[in-house]
Amino acid sequence: MRFFIDTADVDAIRELNELGMADGVTTNPSLIMKSGRDIREVTKEICDMIDGPVSAETIAPDSDGMIAEGRELAAIADNIAIKVPLTWDGLKACKVLSGEGRMVNVTLCFSANQALLAAKTGATFISPFIGRLDDLNLDGMELIADIRQIYDNYGFDTQILAASIRTVNHMTEAARIGADVATAPPGVIKKMAEHVLTDKGLAAFMRDWETTGQTIL
Ligand code: E4P
Repeated sequence: MRFFIDTADVDAIRELNELGMADGVTTNPSLIMKSGRDIREVTKEICDMIDGPVSAETIAPDSDGMIAEGRELAAIADNIAIKVPLTWDGLKACKVLSGEGRMVNVTLCFSANQALLAAKTGATFISPFIGRLDDLNLDGMELIADIRQIYDNYGFDTQILAASIRTVNHMTEAARIGADVATAPPGVIKKMAEHVLTDKGLAAFMRDWETTGQTIL
């Protein structure tokens, strides 16, 4: 499973990229707002740093506006994936933009039928939002599993990009089910390294080592 970093915080992206953990980046209007930076400037900086796809989201409500904005965003760098919402207009924009050979990430997906339509319109990525479904006491992972099965049944190339990830368990489950990519906040990715038994075991090793009076360097 590839990891995309769900943030517009360039320092956080840089740290994970240096560890080979940033196969791409996803941004959205809320993340750009949190960064406090100009969308073109911050997106360009991220694109220059990352080899993989960097999602930048349109904000127009209609397909013509999304197409125009998508082309504008795609001009920032070759690795831009244009993000459009899963509305009827978004699907129209996806069809046109993917037909132009551009990467398109169809976002705000909450049902298998929506994912099926995105694949039909040539989406490069479909972004089912796991955490927001879980917030409503629905099962976000069941959605990922349904989409996996449907795409595999018919050989759709659209990649499942598990989004709205809130916990380390979301990462495990997305990988177990076979999501192609998971996009997660930097904090969730760093937390994946943690285990209470690792901390406990390390503390015991250090205590025992101190009693030997030895050094390695
Ligand atoms: C993905 O592309 C979205 O930017 C993101 O995962 C949304 O996550 P949230 O539900 O935590 O805002």
